[in-house]
Amino acid sequence: MKIGVLRETSAGEQRVALVPEAAAKLIAAGHAVAVERSAGAAAGFPDALYEKAGATLVADAAALCGGSHDVIVKVRKPSASEAAQLPANATLIALLTPGSNDDLIPLLAQRGITALALELVPRISRAQSMDVLSSQSGVAGYKAALVGAAALDKFLPMLTTAAGTIAPSKAFILGAGVAGLQAIATTRRLGAVVSGFDVRSAAGEQVRSLGAQFVEPAAKAEGAGGYARAQTEDEAAQNAAIIGAHVASQDLVITTALIPGRKAPILITDAMLAAMRPGSVVVDLAAESGGNVEGSVAGEMVVCHGVHVIGASNIPSSVPLHASQMFSTNVRTLLQHLAADDGALNIDSSDEITGPMLLVHKGVAVVKK
Ligand code: NAI
Repeated sequence: MKIGVLRETSAGEQRVALVPEAAAKLIAAGHAVAVERSAGAAAGFPDALYEKAGATLVADAAALCGGSHDVIVKVRKPSASEAAQLPANATLIALLTPGSNDDLIPLLAQRGITALALELVPRISRAQSMDVLSSQSGVAGYKAALVGAAALDKFLPMLTTAAGTIAPSKAFILGAGVAGLQAIATTRRLGAVVSGFDVRSAAGEQVRSLGAQFVEPAAKAEGAGGYARAQTEDEAAQNAAIIGAHVASQDLVITTALIPGRKAPILITDAMLAAMRPGSVVVDLAAESGGNVEGSVAGEMVVCHGVHVIGASNIPSSVPLHASQMFSTNVRTLLQHLAADDGALNIDSSDEITGPMLLVHKGVAVVKK
């Protein structure tokens, strides 16, 4: 298999889809890896490390795409101009934002591309090591805790000093999936008194196992496949009362609630922000998916009633070295899954991992149910 690694061009994107260590493993397994110059530079992986790993460095995207690569790997979806120069009939693997890429699909189809969306790796144990959403959510949860702690006007831990005793801060994490659990673990390590909330039954035990208090929802909203479903108006109102009563006493709130394929639910209203202490901090990790916090703006910090509301934007990219390392372990494991016994690329649309990931197969758009 000939694998090409493109440099990211989206504003602010610092990650790379394949780090030198993963490239070396693929090369040792008999594949060839070509990397666009500077692809790993922003993530802390200079060209020399790729050369040492046995990869070929290529001057730019045009030269890389001009080569006869079977697979092109990227972190973010290609722009229209990048899509137009992808090698005809190649396979593209990236975060392709399924459901909001109507312009991209025809462009890829025209070039005979096969496109696999990393967001659609099925959540089965066999595919866990390929699950980019999980690995990057973990990074996001960790960094959200640090961003929130840094913006706060208080310490998180309890401190006993000659200048007095400082009470620990209270942190409340809404949404206890992969990101939320990592935010709980990180705020706990920093010494806060932590509580968590979720609408799935399994979340309570997971929150408590990390030493945090679980704030019981008044109404559960469990959907298919271990995910949450959208709440009815009545359920949302009941849960809002529980959240509202708890949130007013919190110093740091981190929201991570998502519902697959839908706008994120609003969990923190303007009235709840008004009831919080001025100077407290809310980090909205769902800001790019519509937001869990009324008034939050992705990529900005806004002050509402004296509360600092931080709308997260591509947080994993702000921890680019480890985020890339984890991302590329996911990509390498997927590539190894896609390799036939003789090492050639084998896209089997009936395979339980490959099939659900296919957005375009040999130039034909795949209709998702
Ligand atoms: P997600 O990113 O889709 O959502 C984050 C969290 O928000 C979820 O815990 C969800 O229940 C919660 N949420 C949604 N609406 C809410 C509301 N109105 N109020 C409060 N919380 C709300 O979730 P993520 O992190 O992708 O995890 C979803 C599930 O998938 C979990 O059960 C997780 O354990 C499971 N999972 C399984 C994997 C595997 O088997 N390979 C890998 C990763 C996750």
